[in-house]
Amino acid sequence: MNTLNSNFKNIGISVILTAAGSGTRMGHNKPKQFIEINGVSIIERTLKKFYDINLINEIIIIIRKDDLDYYNNLKNKYSSKVKIVIGGKTREESTYNGLLETSENNSIILCHDGVRPFVTKEIILNSIKAMKEYNAVVVAVPAKDTIKSIREDKTIAYTPKRKYLYNAQTPQVFKRDLLVSAYKKCFQEDIQVTDDSSLMEVIGEKVKIIDGSYSNIKITTKEDLLFAEIIAKTEEQNENRNRV
Ligand code: C5P
Repeated sequence: MNTLNSNFKNIGISVILTAAGSGTRMGHNKPKQFIEINGVSIIERTLKKFYDINLINEIIIIIRKDDLDYYNNLKNKYSSKVKIVIGGKTREESTYNGLLETSENNSIILCHDGVRPFVTKEIILNSIKAMKEYNAVVVAVPAKDTIKSIREDKTIAYTPKRKYLYNAQTPQVFKRDLLVSAYKKCFQEDIQVTDDSSLMEVIGEKVKIIDGSYSNIKITTKEDLLFAEIIAKTEEQNENRNRV
């Protein structure tokens, strides 16, 4: 048994894959998670990345009620490790619905965007490994652009130093109890956030950043699809090379 497996052998790990968004920024005729790249849907590509990792014993996909038929078919292709939960009106509600369905025996929760299919096994394992030392871990990459904070009238308020700026990606990994209490506070105090790690800031918990990848994109707009096709092709070439 390798070190990572032995360290986490008695700790169950759940993944929450959020896929209950409407994907309006894509301007496509179907929700972006169902768009196929080289014959495989984006959500199935994402699912496979986590499914193949033995340490992970539960994967909960958060879906829109209207998409139930699609997901029942998808689920039949995989083992009972894959579960389906109906999402809510907001990303926060969707994640919380999933969190409540995670096994109470699993003390580590990985939250991941369903439309981020190019996460690698290495990134996932590194994010789990970092949980030996931290209660909250976020995959991120250094910001490439200079980021401006603006006022309502779209003039620049200030420019934070780029060396301290990172783009947060997923997976974002948390101790289950911490995430549950952070979510309860978020709903009680009506706090809105755009990622789960922001909730850790709300409860004053330290969050460790670990290296993500510029290929670990969240497929959001049409332009992302062009890049996605190239990354998918590269992944497939690498898999074939490793098979030879
Ligand atoms: O809108 P945004 O890109 O921040 O959404 C991040 C993730 O949250 C996406 O995977 C999306 O499907 C999911 N989401 C959800 N339920 C909602 C809204 C968004 O599961 N009500």
